[in-house]
Amino acid sequence: MLLKKYPKEVQQILSKYPPEGKRSAVMPLLFLAQREEGYVNKAAMQDIAKILDITETDVASIVRFYTLYHDKKAGKYHMQVCTDLPCALRGAEEFLDALCDNLGIEVGETTSDRFLTLEAVTCLAACDKAPMFQTQGPDGIKYHENMNVDKTMGLISVLKKSVT
Ligand code: FES
Repeated sequence: MLLKKYPKEVQQILSKYPPEGKRSAVMPLLFLAQREEGYVNKAAMQDIAKILDITETDVASIVRFYTLYHDKKAGKYHMQVCTDLPCALRGAEEFLDALCDNLGIEVGETTSDRFLTLEAVTCLAACDKAPMFQTQGPDGIKYHENMNVDKTMGLISVLKKSVT
């Protein structure tokens, strides 16, 4: 499917790696697969495994390890709050709980308007600036540091206006 749909792009990606190291192309191929629907579906994972001569489990483990890849349909935006220990010590968990209350969803869920999926993730390398999160959406990946719930709800309103 991926190869059929994007033959040029797939060949372009593969040409950057020596044949014996083609498994290294897994990341850009996943990025290509995710481009259309915002997540990598099972068929695409099977496709990538076939193209690279690796197992589907190898591909799935990469998707699940990196916060930039998603294996489920989600909202237009992913809001990924770091709750690792340094951030937790600066109130990240309370912040996330309060966000859940304000949005009316639990961690891992998507708002009913399918605008936002809220996730808890591990270190995003801004440990002294918690509460912090990254957004992934049509405008790319953005960091938001030293946040509070009011600022975050304001940001969500601005994002909604900018994409509707
Ligand atoms: S622990 Fe949260 S950004 Fe590092």
